[in-house]
Amino acid sequence: MSTEIEISFKEKVDIKRLPEHIAIIMDGNGRWAKAQGKHRIFGHKNGVKAVREVTEGCAELGVKHLTLYAFSTENWNRPKTEVSALMQLLFLTIGKEIKTLQKNNIRLNAIGHIHNLPESNQKALREVMEATKNNTRMTLTLALSYGSKEEITEATKILAQQYKDGKISLEDINTETISNQLYTKDIPDPELMIRTSGEHRISNFLLWQLAYSELYFTEKFWPEFTRNDLFKAIYDYQNRERRFGMTSEQITEQLTTNN
Ligand code: FPP
Repeated sequence: MSTEIEISFKEKVDIKRLPEHIAIIMDGNGRWAKAQGKHRIFGHKNGVKAVREVTEGCAELGVKHLTLYAFSTENWNRPKTEVSALMQLLFLTIGKEIKTLQKNNIRLNAIGHIHNLPESNQKALREVMEATKNNTRMTLTLALSYGSKEEITEATKILAQQYKDGKISLEDINTETISNQLYTKDIPDPELMIRTSGEHRISNFLLWQLAYSELYFTEKFWPEFTRNDLFKAIYDYQNRERRFGMTSEQITEQLTTNN
């Protein structure tokens, strides 16, 4: 039995300085399961528990947007049995969690090539998104069959077509018009991105939107990630200085002027 005493981070978090949007790469389900001699699917099933923990944790604090990388365009290359098990799990989870989403006033949103998911998943997603569309406490966005390079490529093609059709000029193409063509056009960029399982990569996730995000990496596998781990990540984020290319002195001056 572990004698380690876990510090509670909830009280340490300054709720007046919360990130508005947290994005998470949920990694390590397979390794967590393997370490216990279990099948990878067992890891994914336990990963759903962590999804619930973190969603509730964000809502509890007052975070407005949570985006979870649930299935990448590259994940289609996994063994067929794992892909179908993941799709089945997603289908069951969406159906099961609708009550909790409604009870907690959470809106469900999805980004990515949703049209590539099995029809049953698309239908379940459509229904839950429609049912929760007026919920205002928090938006939970699932990135499904999502790839950031594909997202940016599609945005580029839309703008190129608009230019070709004479609807916009070259001067109209700027960071704002590009952002407005991304799947995330209605969501602010994440201030904090968390990745579990000790991997230090972005893996084709929100490449444009993460330009100025603080990145937080933890050794914990996703099924082990708790609400307190989320609070710890937010606390860590709150103790960083976000400079956006400026100097430390400029930031201090800005803070003094604003307070
Ligand atoms: C990464 O672990 C996890 C995934 C590819 C899928 C995440 C899915 C869930 C947590 C379950 C369903 C999600 C929702 C939103 C209902 P990995 O398999 O890459 O682990 P490994 O790196 O150890 O192999």
